This record gives sequence, structure tokens and C-alpha cells, in this order.
Amino acid sequence: MKGLIPEEVIDEVRASSDIVNVVSDYVRLRKQGTNYVGLCPFHNEKTPSFMVSGDKQIFRCFGCGEGGNVFSFIMKFDKLSFPEAVRLLANRAGITIPEEDDPAKNARMKEVNEAFEINELVKDFYQYILINHQVAGEARSYLKKRGLTGETIDKFQIGFAPPSWDSLLKFLNKKGFAPEKLEKLGLVLARSKGKPGFYDRFRNRVMFPIWDIRGKVVGFGGRVLDDSVPKYLNSPETVLFNKSHLLYGINKAAESIRRNDQVIIVEGYLDVITCHQSGISNVVASLGTAFTREQGKLLLRYSQEVVMAYDADAAGIHATMRGWQLLDDLGCRVRIVSIPDGKDPDEFIRVHGAEEFTRVIRQNAQSLSEFNTDRAMEKYDMATLEGKFKIASEVIPSIKNISNEIEKNEAIMKLAQRLHLSPEAVRAEVEKTPRGSRNSWSNRDKITASRNNNDNRVPGGVASKEEDARSRAEESLLVLMLSDSNIFLKVKEEIGVHFSSRQEYLNITNLLNEILENELDYQPAVLFDRLQDESTTEILKRLLLVEIPEENRDQVIDDCIRTVKEDEIRKKREELLRRMEEADKARDQELRKQLLLEYTRLI
Ligand code: GTP
Ligand code: MN
Repeated sequence: MKGLIPEEVIDEVRASSDIVNVVSDYVRLRKQGTNYVGLCPFHNEKTPSFMVSGDKQIFRCFGCGEGGNVFSFIMKFDKLSFPEAVRLLANRAGITIPEEDDPAKNARMKEVNEAFEINELVKDFYQYILINHQVAGEARSYLKKRGLTGETIDKFQIGFAPPSWDSLLKFLNKKGFAPEKLEKLGLVLARSKGKPGFYDRFRNRVMFPIWDIRGKVVGFGGRVLDDSVPKYLNSPETVLFNKSHLLYGINKAAESIRRNDQVIIVEGYLDVITCHQSGISNVVASLGTAFTREQGKLLLRYSQEVVMAYDADAAGIHATMRGWQLLDDLGCRVRIVSIPDGKDPDEFIRVHGAEEFTRVIRQNAQSLSEFNTDRAMEKYDMATLEGKFKIASEVIPSIKNISNEIEKNEAIMKLAQRLHLSPEAVRAEVEKTPRGSRNSWSNRDKITASRNNNDNRVPGGVASKEEDARSRAEESLLVLMLSDSNIFLKVKEEIGVHFSSRQEYLNITNLLNEILENELDYQPAVLFDRLQDESTTEILKRLLLVEIPEENRDQVIDDCIRTVKEDEIRKKREELLRRMEEADKARDQELRKQLLLEYTRLI
């Protein structure tokens, strides 16, 4: 396959595809020193460990270990083969590549191209009818009644499917497209039960084309003009239309999402359209289905800041919750807005205007715990203590799940304030509540206990020479343990997993232990997914950057283990000396003798 594209063309494409530029199309990058960093698109994370180097033209993720050049990035991200990735980048750079000779692939490419071509024609057809045809009179006045301007109708390529059974079918037939092909694209349906022939799927509906990120039409949504059902009819899944990967309006919103560093997610086509018409253009809709990971990842290319403006009805709330969790998992900062008076954004803007909508977004955007508090306060009686605790118990799980300590604290204060309880009482409840299984960490108490017992360092103090050697040894051991489970087991056997007094190191060794015991993949990526403490995550990233040469590994390990052991002994001896001094003062000869004996054994 690779041989089919001439080597010099590949070189040219590589040279014309600056990795920082290309990756920026997919990931938000921030300059850091000579490199760029961002959230890794290949694993879930909340702090960036994904690095792109313009000098070296490579990317690397210190979290999941993914790395490579601009081609590897595209292959991995878009799930393409090498030649496909080269073609994509060639296309981007305006370089032409002689066509490849792969019959199966060519056939598929032809099908996809033809599908796009047909959809384009269909869009034009519906648009033409809406603007020009007399059957569309009612549709035109409907759209006018809903406040859409001619410009908006044009910009959103809105059309009308006439009420006949076969006008689209006839139109496309004349253009030479077989009905079977149109059926595959969800444009026509086969007559049932043995009757030959086909009929139009969309009839007497206002038609909204749905685009991919490049603005190509992949499907349609059609709305009735009255109260009949179903209110909307959408294209079925086709070679182009994959609802779970699409966001309505993303092609028109992308630029503005990036600029505002915020995306507003709404429910309906008309919500998106009205927002854009009134100048709020960082808005997309999720096509009436539950929000998916793919949609979340698509958004993450442009911004981490997500505002969900869903209807405040039961279905809307349910959708909000699920979407919230999913986006939060992906590393987005999610806020929720309940639009006042149970309106959707479209209705709200038409009544109160865009400025008021923007103000509502700014002022009413709530975190999940605040949102839950409102919901729970509607359900239970605030006047009784029992009611208050019921409210608290509904809200606390969402507080417990906040990974950022500052935000968590803020959430506790807010809940306390609203329930007229003391923050301490709420905090105690939060502590008592078991964490959701996803974030559970069974060793947590053990870890905290061991820190309290062992951590005798003075924060920010100057470490002694021995301590320096010790911490270097600990660091090297950890780096090596992370690289190889056998090294982990060896160290565990020799000095146990609690050989460090650093909380973060203990977190890491405990987690490694857990991973081995549960037979999970022994990979840094797994660690990042399970670590919830930010400073540990930071330390882990740093450790993964340390490189220890292959040669003399065993020697290095043994030296480090010895350093730790010796330092432990040194500490024990110091402790014994201290206790001997005490025994002297107390004139306890017996105890002194015993301590001395212990001391000599340690030499
Ligand atoms: P209007 O009532 O015209 O303002 O539409 P809306 O966009 O506000 O619709 P609504 O809030 O009722 O629904 C939100 C989205 O869910 C719509 O944009 C559609 O994508 C989808 N949807 C709504 N009703 C139906 C339906 O009957 N069938 C299907 N397949 N999808 C629907
Ligand atoms: Mn609506």
C-alpha cells in the first residue's frame, strides 16, 4: 500500500503539513516553552499531558504513551491507514496524488462521493421549492411566523418537501439515480407487501439539512407544519449519516466556539438557528438523542467549556444528567442553564431577546451540584430537618465526584448556605458518603494514615544530604517500577510498597499494587484514568518524563533499594539514640541496656 504513493510525494506532504498546524485542527494547543501542550485526544484527562514539538515535528502523550509524527497522528485520530492519512494531508495542503488502484476502496469512495452529490441535489431541490413553489406557501408563512429571516433560511439552507408521494423520486430519477440508491440514503421508501415501487420519505415538511464539520450535507431533519406527529422525521443511519457522531450546526459554530472558548449545547434545530440569527453563534444541538462520547470529543477540539441549555422538563433533565457525566468524564467543564419559564432557547430569545439570553447564560449557569440542589428543593420540604437531609443526600454524590478541591469546597459552602446548615455539617456528610464506584479508592484511608505517621519532613525545609540521596533513590525506583511490573514486584518484595514518605509516591505505588492485584493493564494510561488527586497526577507526569538508561538497570535498582534500606536503618538508629538519651535522663539502666543492644544489632 505504502509503495503506491511515491516516496517524494510523501516527503512533500510531510514537509507541507506542519504538525502544530495540523494538530491544532483537532486539539486545543497552548504554547509552553518551545513546545505546545493540550489535552490528549487519545485518552481521558483533565490536565494536559499531550505535547507537540514544532522543532522535532512530533507529538507525544506522557499519559497514554501515544506518539509519532503528523501521519501517525492522523492515522490514530481519524482511524485511517497510512496512505489514507497521506491523502488527507495532501488534500489539506493542496497537493495532488495520483489515484490509487484499489477496486474495493475505489468503489466505496465512489459510493460516498455519489451520496454527497445526491444529498446536495436534494437540498437544492427542497430549497428551490420552499422559495419558489406555490405548494410551499404555507411553509413560508410558517417560517415567517417562527421569526426566521430570508437570510437565515438561506444560510441554513432550509427547504420544503412537497406533500406529494413522489416528487423527489421523480426529480432524482430524471437525474439518473436508481431508486435503490436513494432508498439506501433514506430519501425514499419501498412500498410495502409486494407492491413494486418507492415513495418519498419526507412529505409536507420543512426540511433542515444536517451537515458534517466541513459543511457537507449528510442527512435531513423534517418538521411538520402543525401539531401532527411525529413532529420531526430524521434521516435513518446511512453511509453518511451517523447521528451519534454529529452535532447540528457544528460547521457554522466551530469558529465561534473556539473564539469564545465556550460552546452552548441546545436541544433543537430551531434553537440553534434562532441563536445564530440573533448573533449567538457558539451553539450546537445534539439531534434529539442522548449525548454521546463521539460528540463530546468533537466539541473538545474547540473548547472545554460547555454550557448545556436544555429544556427544564423531565426528559430534558434526564438528558442533561447523562450528558453532563459524559462530558465531565471527557475533561470538559460543564455548566447547566435552566431557561426561565420552562421555555426553550428559541422561545426565550423571541420573547426576551438575545442580550437577555446571554445574560441568563452568564448568570444562571450552574454546576451540577447547584442544579441538583434546585431540583431537590422543589421536591422536599426545606422547613423540616428531615427535608434538609433528603435534599443534602441527593446533592452530595455530585459534590463527592468533584475532582478539583477548590470547586468541591465551594460546592459544600453553597449547599450549606442554601440549607441553612453549617459547612462543617455538610462536609461531614460528604466525607461519610461513599464515593461513586468509578472514583472509589479503597486504600485511601490507609494512605492517609501512613502519611500522618511517617511524614516528618518540614514542607519547604532543606533536606539533609541523606534525605536527598533517599529521595533520588525513591524517584528512580518509581520510574523503573512504572516501566515494568517485574521491577515493581522485586521492589515490593525487598522493601514493600510503602517505602516513601511522599504522599504522591504512596498514591502511585498503592495504585500500581491495585492494578497488579486486579490484573488490569500495567500501563501509565490506566493510572491516569484512576488517579483523582491532581498533585499525584502532576508527579506521575514528571516521573514518566524521566529516562533511565537501559544498561545496568539491575545495578541501579539494587543501589536504590540499598539506599532506601540504609536510610531506614539510619533513621531507626537515630530514633534509638534519642530514646537512649531519654532513658539516661530517667536513669532507667535496664531500658538503656536494651536499647543499646538493639542499636548494636543495627550496625
Ligand atoms: P420546535 O417545536 O419546532 O420549536 O422544535 P424544537 O427544535 O424546539 O423541538 P423539541 O424541543 O421538541 O425537540 C428537540 C429536538 O429533538 C428536535 O430538534 C429534534 O431533533 C428532536 N425531535 C423532536 N421531536 C421529534 C420526533 O418526533 N422525532 C424525532 N426523530 N426527533 C424529534
Ligand atoms: Mn422549540
